Amino acid sequence: MSSSVLTAVAWPYANGPRHIGHVSGFGVPSDVFSRYRRMAGDRVLMVSGTDEHGTPILVQADNEGLTPRQTADKYNRVIVEDLHGLGLGYDLFTRTTTSNHYEVTQQLFLALHKNGYVVPRTQMGAISPSTGRTLPDRYVEGTCPICGYEAARGDQCDNCGNQLDPADLLNPRSKINGEKPEFVETEHFFLDLPAFAESLGSWLSKRTDWRPNVLRFATNLVEDLKPRAITRDLDWGVPVPLDGWRDQPMKRLYVWFDAVIGYLSASVEWARRGPDPDAWKQFWTDPDARGYYFMGKDNIVFHSVIWPALLLGQNGEGDHGGTPGAFGKLNLPSEIVSSEFLTMSGSKFSTSRGTVIYVTDFLREFGPDALRYFIATAGPENQDTDFTWDEFVRRTNFELANEWGNLVNRSISMAHKNVGSIPKPVAPAQADAELLATSRAAFDTVGGLLARSKFKQAVGEAMRVVTAANRYLSDQEPWKRKDDPDRRDTILHTALQVVQDANTLLTPFLPHAAQQVHEAMGGSGVWAAQPEVREVDDLGDGPAYPVLTGDYAGEQATWASTPVEIGRPLAKPTPIFTKLDPKLGETGPEWAPIQHPDQP
Ligand code: MF3
Ligand code: ZN
Repeated sequence: MSSSVLTAVAWPYANGPRHIGHVSGFGVPSDVFSRYRRMAGDRVLMVSGTDEHGTPILVQADNEGLTPRQTADKYNRVIVEDLHGLGLGYDLFTRTTTSNHYEVTQQLFLALHKNGYVVPRTQMGAISPSTGRTLPDRYVEGTCPICGYEAARGDQCDNCGNQLDPADLLNPRSKINGEKPEFVETEHFFLDLPAFAESLGSWLSKRTDWRPNVLRFATNLVEDLKPRAITRDLDWGVPVPLDGWRDQPMKRLYVWFDAVIGYLSASVEWARRGPDPDAWKQFWTDPDARGYYFMGKDNIVFHSVIWPALLLGQNGEGDHGGTPGAFGKLNLPSEIVSSEFLTMSGSKFSTSRGTVIYVTDFLREFGPDALRYFIATAGPENQDTDFTWDEFVRRTNFELANEWGNLVNRSISMAHKNVGSIPKPVAPAQADAELLATSRAAFDTVGGLLARSKFKQAVGEAMRVVTAANRYLSDQEPWKRKDDPDRRDTILHTALQVVQDANTLLTPFLPHAAQQVHEAMGGSGVWAAQPEVREVDDLGDGPAYPVLTGDYAGEQATWASTPVEIGRPLAKPTPIFTKLDPKLGETGPEWAPIQHPDQP
């Protein structure tokens, strides 16, 4: 049965190029999932974009001497290129500075306001005593009152993951000049989270299929909900759509408020750009549609509590009811798929600390599929995981090149040399039937795992078919069957069928290689579709911008064992994966050399 699946991918801040830690959290897992779902016949809408408001962008703009707008424009393009290079198949990757996003965000705010879930309140805001200017949250640093971490930020503690207010910090100091901020009264809108205690609690109690750590985290939060400010004293963000607020230059909606609404606005934008402007509804208002949200673990709170609360509030389904806003009753997330952190020598990938491997450098040297494979097999799916060049080399050389690449290469070259085409099986033996049964059975196993976002196990099961096929070839020795061409052809046919099956099973992980294998097997046309970068006009009166989008409906890859075509001509194959110099494992590449602790 085909269903509508929304793949909602966390929005990267437009404040720098992406490093491999970023894409191991939101990027590769969401794409593997979406590719599988499309192959399995579901209608998938995969959306995201760059997150362009708030202090992360202001901080970067200051660092580079650019305006926030220039910073957002610059890194929106850089990130679009990074994600394009990795082959992430977004239906729409847009940005938060579009007219459409402003409209949708403001409509959602108005629905919440009308239903009484956002209320004005005064709060203590930080100002710099020396300049008298407002100090945005991220410019205030101090000790976390909850876990004692000394470098907590005014909006969030990166150590324990709790959201904070700058006034909560112990020993607060300005990140700009180290001075102690002063706190003065300022008026803000608050999301009345306590008014969702019942409704969120009962919704969460039904999430039995979530990863236990996510569920535990969200349930704990719901036990102690406090009102959260959803506006900031800033001049960069979506204006508050109310008289008396709209024109205030220093009041904007909080970046996290507008960013999560991006999932809805991007879906609306996607529909507005297609033949049916209401097409977003099948992913949002059809109760049978499912929504899967992909992110790094530092985003869990916003997706498991804040975003569901916003949706309940706009639906009129919070604890004191209300009526649905302009969008009707919207679906809450079906699942939150969060990754842990990819670390380097134990510490979180971080641009500021210099532990960084940029996606663009990586792709230039090793191509997308080696990175995708590494993230799927050795990424931080369930625990923080160290990236090492040594393991990258090992996975690439022994698994991709020796196991998979070699199976493809020797199966096709033997068939090419001996027959010139896909041979006809004559009298299948038990060993042949067994191998074919193994590869056919893998579709259910691997598919079941992918549907539950168990990527490591899924790729492991797919590779098990590859290993079985290599063993089969070593046992059957088709190269020694010169005087029994019928047997030789049967073996080669079987091997090619399993190459075809394994290629299908590996397509979500290795879509670029899968296209090459498809062609090496004599296939033509698009096997695995790739996203493209397109310049589009803003749907209101904003400037044009690049988006990632794609036509995935026409791709041939489907989640099933499809019989190879007997007699299809085969050319001499060229190797799909090149082996890396093992020295790379010791030194790292020139652009990211391994630093030994004993080096000065
Ligand atoms: N920009 C945020 C980050 O990088 C993620 C935003 S996800 C969204 O941590 F849902 F809010 F869009
Ligand atoms: Zn903390």
